[in-house]
Amino acid sequence: MKKITIFSLAVAAIIFTACGEETKKVVEEVNKTAIAEAVKKDTVSAFETAKIKMAEAAEAAKVAAAEMAAEAKVEADKMSAEAVEKAAELKVEAEAKAEELTQAATAALTPASPPAAYDKCKGCHGVDGKTAALGKSAIIAGQDKEALITSMNEYKAGTKNVAGMGALMKGQAATMSDEEIEAVADYLSQI
Ligand code: HEC
Repeated sequence: MKKITIFSLAVAAIIFTACGEETKKVVEEVNKTAIAEAVKKDTVSAFETAKIKMAEAAEAAKVAAAEMAAEAKVEADKMSAEAVEKAAELKVEAEAKAEELTQAATAALTPASPPAAYDKCKGCHGVDGKTAALGKSAIIAGQDKEALITSMNEYKAGTKNVAGMGALMKGQAATMSDEEIEAVADYLSQI
């Protein structure tokens, strides 16, 4: 009877011990899984956070780039508008200059045509003013315009008399208007 009891106890102890081992294993297994799960969860959330942060950074970079591009465009538009304006100004200037040169060239190539008021002067001063009138006057072609106007006004007033024939020239100038004197002086000065 005593032997049976001891045997039973021994068996119980063995079973208990085995159960203990088994429990320990299970606990270890559960722990391992829990740690792995926790690590996995942590890793996943860190990865998720990084992904979000990266997306945010990419978005910010995109916005900044768009802003810079918009600014650059505004600047470029301003510059090109200025360039267009400047080109237009230069074009107008160049056209005006070309017109001026054309006129100057035309004037240089076209011989000055005598105004009607010069008709009565031809007999003494020559068709182009290059004759010394009655062999006495100075050549009037090519003289300065203002000097010619002064001469004519002085003859008109009776104050000019170079070769003793001022009176004769007074008769010529007396009936001339300021416009006629100017037209004649303009013509003679251009020869
Ligand atoms: C009948 C001839 C005759 C006619 C026409 C005549 N002149 Fe004269 N002209 C003279 C004589 C002569 C003199 C010199 C007068 C003097 O003694 O100052 C003279 C002098 C001048 C001078 C001054 C030249 C100088 O530098 O001393 C001018 C300018 C002039 N004549 C312009 C004209 C004009 C313009 C006309 C036409 C509107 C004209 N003459 C018509 C004979 C004439």
